[in-house]
Amino acid sequence: MYALGFESTAHTFGVGIVDGKCRVLSNEKASYTHPDAGIHPRLAAEHHFEHGSRVLKQALVHARLSMKDIDVISFAQGPGLGPCLRVGAITARYLGLVHQKPVLGVNHCVAHVEIGKVKTGARDPVVVYTSGANTQIIAYENGKYRVMGETLDMGVGNVLDQFGRKIGLGFPAGPIIDRNYFKGKKMIPLPYSVKGMDLVFAGLLTEAERKIGKEGTNDLCYSLMHTAFAMVCEVTERALAHTEKKEVLVTGGVAASKALSQMLQTLCDERKAVLHVVPKPYAMDNGAMIAWQGLIEHRSGRKQALAETGVNQRYRTDHVDVFW
Ligand code: FE2
Repeated sequence: MYALGFESTAHTFGVGIVDGKCRVLSNEKASYTHPDAGIHPRLAAEHHFEHGSRVLKQALVHARLSMKDIDVISFAQGPGLGPCLRVGAITARYLGLVHQKPVLGVNHCVAHVEIGKVKTGARDPVVVYTSGANTQIIAYENGKYRVMGETLDMGVGNVLDQFGRKIGLGFPAGPIIDRNYFKGKKMIPLPYSVKGMDLVFAGLLTEAERKIGKEGTNDLCYSLMHTAFAMVCEVTERALAHTEKKEVLVTGGVAASKALSQMLQTLCDERKAVLHVVPKPYAMDNGAMIAWQGLIEHRSGRKQALAETGVNQRYRTDHVDVFW
C-alpha cells in the first residue's frame, strides 16, 4: 500500500510518499520565507501554488511511482493558515477526482505525533510539540490525544523568530539563537508565565526585545530561550506526573534545538523517563507525516466524502478520535 500526502499548513509545501511499513519513499518540499517579515498567508499560498506541481513530480520520481500506484491521497486539513491549507486541499481533491483515489483530510498535529512514534520507537509518550505557530503538550488518554497544556498566544518558534528578526538574524532565526544559547554566560531575568498548564509568551518576547542593546546578544539569546523552554519543561513535567507515562517525545520545528533537548533530557533523567527526539526531516512540517497519517486512517477504514474535505483552520488535536 502506498500513500501520498500533502502538507501546506504554513510556510512549507511538502509532498511525501510512504508505504505500509512507514518506509518513506520520498519527502520533498518547498518553503516560503521572507528575510524581513513573518509569514504572509496569501503570498505563502501563491508560493505553494507556484511550486506545487514541481514538488509533486519530484516526490513521484524519487519514489519511482506514478499516480496509478497510489492507494490513498491525504492532506493536512488543519490547523493552519486558510489560504495555505486550501492549496493542499485543492491539490489532493483534484488528484483524487482525476485518478479516482480516496482522499482524506488529516489533523496536522496528530500526524506529527504518529510519525514521531514510528520513527523513534516511542510507544506511549507525553509529546512536546513545539513549532512556529504551535506549542502543545499532548498525551494519549481514553481514545484521544489530549492537550495537557498549550500556548495561549504564540508558538515558541515564532517567539524565537520574531526576536531573531529584531536582532537582524533573518528567518529562520531559531538555529542561530540555539547556537548563541551555548555562548551566553549571564541569566537575565525575564517574565516567566505558566497559567495552570498553559503558556503565555508575549510578555517574555516584549521584555527580551526591550533589552536589545542594553544586554549582550548571546546573554539575551540564552535567557530568552532558557526561560521559554523552562516554561515548556514545567508543563511537560506536570503532564508526566499526572499521566505516569515514562516517555517524552519532542517534535515540531523547534525539536531541532539542542538547548530544548538538553533541558528535556535533564527533566527525563530526574523522572527516570526516556526522551525521544524526532529526527529533523520528520519533526519539521513534512509531507511524509501527512501521507503516513492518511495511510493508517485509510487502512483502518476511514472514508471521507468530498463535501467533508474542506479545510479547518482551528482543527484541534483533541477533536480527533484515535480509532486506528
Ligand atoms: Fe507542524
